[in-house]
Amino acid sequence: MAQETQTNPKPMFESKVIGVSTPRIDGPFKTTGTAKYTSDHNFPDLVYAWPVTATISSGSVTGVDTSQARKMPGVVAVYTHEDIGPLYRTPPAAGFSMIQDERRPPLEDAEVRYYGQYVGVAVAKTVEQARAAAEAVRVSYKQTPLNINGTLLGTPLSTPSMRRGSHRGDAAASFEASAVQHDAVYKTPSATHNPIELHATVAVYDDGRFTLYETSQAIVNHRDTLAAVLGVSPENVQVITRFLGSGFGGKLWPWPHSALAAACARNLNQPVKLVVSRSMMFQSVGHRPAIDQQVKLGAETNGKLTTIVHNYVNHTSMADDYSEGCGEATALLYSCPNVDITSGMARRNVGTPTSMRGPGAVPGLYAVESAMDELAVKLEMDPVALRLLNEPEKDESSGKPFSSRHLAECLKVGAEKFGWSQRNPAVGSMKNAEGMTVGWGVAACSWGAMRIEAKAMVELLVDGTARVTCATQDIGGGTYTTFAQLVSHETGIPLQKVAVVLGDTRLPDGPISGGSWTTATITPAVLSAAQNAVKALVQVALRAQHSPFAGKSEDDLELVEGVVRLKADTSVALSQEEVLRLANIKAVSGNAESRGTLGAHNDYSFHSFGAQFVEVTWQPEIARLRVSRVVTVIDAGRMLNPRTAQNQIEGAVVMGIGMAMFESTEYDERTGAPINASLADYVMPVNADCPKIDVTFLDYPDYHLNALGARGVGEIGMAGVAAAVTGAVYHATGVRVRSLPVRIEDLLVPAHGHEVA
Ligand code: MOS
Repeated sequence: MAQETQTNPKPMFESKVIGVSTPRIDGPFKTTGTAKYTSDHNFPDLVYAWPVTATISSGSVTGVDTSQARKMPGVVAVYTHEDIGPLYRTPPAAGFSMIQDERRPPLEDAEVRYYGQYVGVAVAKTVEQARAAAEAVRVSYKQTPLNINGTLLGTPLSTPSMRRGSHRGDAAASFEASAVQHDAVYKTPSATHNPIELHATVAVYDDGRFTLYETSQAIVNHRDTLAAVLGVSPENVQVITRFLGSGFGGKLWPWPHSALAAACARNLNQPVKLVVSRSMMFQSVGHRPAIDQQVKLGAETNGKLTTIVHNYVNHTSMADDYSEGCGEATALLYSCPNVDITSGMARRNVGTPTSMRGPGAVPGLYAVESAMDELAVKLEMDPVALRLLNEPEKDESSGKPFSSRHLAECLKVGAEKFGWSQRNPAVGSMKNAEGMTVGWGVAACSWGAMRIEAKAMVELLVDGTARVTCATQDIGGGTYTTFAQLVSHETGIPLQKVAVVLGDTRLPDGPISGGSWTTATITPAVLSAAQNAVKALVQVALRAQHSPFAGKSEDDLELVEGVVRLKADTSVALSQEEVLRLANIKAVSGNAESRGTLGAHNDYSFHSFGAQFVEVTWQPEIARLRVSRVVTVIDAGRMLNPRTAQNQIEGAVVMGIGMAMFESTEYDERTGAPINASLADYVMPVNADCPKIDVTFLDYPDYHLNALGARGVGEIGMAGVAAAVTGAVYHATGVRVRSLPVRIEDLLVPAHGHEVA
């Protein structure tokens, strides 16, 4: 077995705020109802927009009769592709700029490519009037045959052939020569993000300038993209997202409703509010695509992997290419000389897919880790031992060392906490205290870590407070609090005296809230900005009239707990307030910009790791399957705020349970409509479905990524959960479910040992 591949050179440093469980500083705004979410913004002459949505999924609009709608009470306007006004496509751009998964602006032409595509919009004085008017618009169509075929592997692709991803060795030959082989197809269905906060835009237009209140996980990209779509300069678009009722990736990039609301505001010269309805959330704001994955594993009889082949195809929409990177973790999770990853996209009449929590790795690891579990059964080997045996020394896909990898320790700690040594591998052999059958499953997981570019500004004020600003946003995971902790840590100013202002594109350009990268990204920018602010304060202290530090230099002074003092004689000291009052300065500021690891040369492979242990309880008499216990151990660098980090992992595990047992967006084969498009019909886990989730952080700082060793958490907690659940279901029932979600029907069969794919 490989030793832990990396020991960190620096010990953990002490801090009063970093690594300390800290309640969200924005919590009171939310619990008192004073936090203003996007759709809470109102203006005196605001009107409401409600889209007219296509009731076919393939064809074209041949006519729109708006005459009845226009006569209805309160109706201000009804627009179609003929009169919405100019809306443009985005030009190519580098980095996180001009990103939209659905690139066609709304109402660009008469084509219809998915059910629910916007074909018009009604605007009225109340939301009820707007909706009634939209429903009174009569649209006629010419239909063409639709394709929502759920079989993806082996069907025509959007490109002439499968695209080759990471590969090494000769996988085809080594698989044939392998003593033990496993070859299976795993299917995951289309799944829909269901944050409680609906997508929304409130658009205010004033003399060529737009203010857009948005539900956005990336306001800077939203500004630049909407400027391009609306045909104005970026300085004429301001995007504001103060609070988000979560997003899970669905709110990363702009969707057509944003441009639709802005166009209405421009046409009418009036503020316009457009809230996407829950059923529209299943149609036109992205989803995780359906994916078919073939995984072939070859091994020696002792369990050493010889071959990993991972071929997958995800569905995408008719006009856009969304590729789900299922192979990202496959290439580096295990030591294996022969690896081949290929992928493709198949066009279907669905809305454009997008990132959904842990895009790529989450469905990818469901397939690969399920295959590992099946291989362990074939080898008659313990699935934890199989993984430990194949622990790599380095990232074999790039040849680089891991910045910090403790997957083996995650597995060992998790096994210990779960009681894995008590596991009897025989199917259906284990019972709980009430005599019910239990099954135990395990999976490993990985998620890429990264820093992207960011700017931030820190101000130190004459009242002794600090203020930090950045055009990023808090999706709900605790980013406001992280900013305050970083400033407090660097300056010694208490947390309660740090104001954090985010969610406005007038602030210095900040990162997207995506990929679980925000914490790693803002850490260097905020620390440097705070250092620069402190330097500015010291300069003021040296130069102020009547300064006790006259004649001294910067090197003679230090700032400790908000007090500037002489190193040689700490009794010569002035507080931040005294320095700035003496100089008659309201505030000093420090700006900083940090670079990203994305697209740069890196000496290390940055990844987080984890292990998921799941127990299911199966009662065949009443066909009841429950996840009854989860132990998750996460290696994601140092946790800056263990409290919010634990909450992230718990939430992610719940989503993993949903993926394994409940979630699936079903399309009507005749119309292409998502038919379970409501919170009643789209089944998601509720509290009753969720056991206690035991979360452990290994907390090894990753100083290769930033000075605090933080990698960030969120998505890693969902990766591997579905495979651990289906492994546990197999252990309890003998049924191997290879097509998610696990349905009770899959398990209602008399004999043990069949497969459902
Ligand atoms: Mo996450 S799917 O990058 O919001």
